[in-house]
This record gives sequence, structure tokens and C-alpha cells, in this order.
Amino acid sequence: MSFTIAIDGPAAAGKGTISRAVSEHYGFAHLDTGLLYRAVGAKMLDGVAPVDAAQNLQPEDLARTDLRGPEIAQAASKVAVIGEVRLALVDFQRAFARRVGGAVLDGRDIGTVICPRADAKLFVTASAEVRAKRRFMELAAKGLADSLDEVLADVKARDDRDINRAESPLKPADDAVLIDTSELSIEAAIAAAIAAIEARR
Ligand code: C5P
Repeated sequence: MSFTIAIDGPAAAGKGTISRAVSEHYGFAHLDTGLLYRAVGAKMLDGVAPVDAAQNLQPEDLARTDLRGPEIAQAASKVAVIGEVRLALVDFQRAFARRVGGAVLDGRDIGTVICPRADAKLFVTASAEVRAKRRFMELAAKGLADSLDEVLADVKARDDRDINRAESPLKPADDAVLIDTSELSIEAAIAAAIAAIEARR
């Protein structure tokens, strides 16, 4: 049996935390699709043409330890506007979504483009200020952040690129359940996600 859960939303809204918790709760496999774009972005920074990088992505490209940094996040959102890059990554994501035993995919276009027939769809969001603060704390803990203002500017630049691109822009699917985590604890956000999924099972 396969059951596909699509979780979309902007950067640092809590998608990753919710997706990991949901996949553990149901024993489903989890794919953070942002990592695919980050791996392509990292290769672009290394001098590889983004379309070539996307068409030849290898497992070791996803295992790089530097993919979480802010520079690679910006590069990821730049390669993500390229239609051919997105196209090269579709089959892998769809095959993952159909795997027996259930799958959780998180990203920007899972419920709208990659898995329009997903069994459950969530759109996880929060204000840009709350998201920037969370991302700043995460990056600061790893020694990667400069200032909160800079992180906020980065988050807004990435939102702008993700929302306004022509190919697969960031937007909630018509049938997605919206979860605004601005005022929610992690536990409450996870509980809201599981309740929304249960309603579809
Ligand atoms: O989720 P994460 O912040 O790791 O994603 C990095 C970038 O990859 C996003 O800003 C977005 O531009 C792109 N992305 C995308 N579609 C997805 C996942 C990520 O365009 N499904």
C-alpha cells in the first residue's frame, strides 16, 4: 500500500520538523526535496552548469555536509527557477512518492506539481519575521549566521524568488490544509499536522 503526504511551504516555516515527525509517526519514508535543489545549487557554485548538474545528480551529491548553509540556500532558489532543472528532478521525486509503505515529501511544489493526487496535503507557513528568527537561531548554533537582519533579508529574497517564478511557484494546493506555525509550539504544530492527515485516512 502506498500513501503519499505532501508538505509544502516557505523556508523555515517548520516543514522539515513536521515532516520528520510525521514520517516517524507513520513509519513512512521521508524526502526533503529542498536537498535536491541545494545539491544542484552547490554544484553550480562549484562551476557546473545547473541543468547538467540536475540531470546527473548522484547520491553522494546529496550527502555533502555543506548543503545547509545560507549561500547554498540562495543558490538553490536560483537554480530552482530553471524549468529544465525542475524537470530533471521530477521522476525521482514521483518514484519516491509512490514507494510501498508510504512517503512524506516536503518542498514547495509537491502538492501542486509533483504529487497533485497526494493522499494528504499540508501547507505550512509562518510570518517572515518568525521564520527568520528561527533560521537565525539554527544557523547561529552552527556558527553560520551573521545577523538577524541579514537572515530576514535572505528569507524574503528566497520567498520572492519561490513565489514569483514562472515554473512551479510556491503556493498552496487548492486542497491543502493550511497550518500557520507563527504562534504554535513544535508539539502543537506536529499535532495539527497529524490531525489533518488522520482526517484523510
Ligand atoms: O527547503 P529548502 O529551504 O532546503 O529549499 C531550498 C530552495 O530549493 C528553496 O528556496 C526553493 O527555491 C527550492 N525548492 C523548490 N522546490 C522544492 C524544494 C525546494 O523550488 N520542492
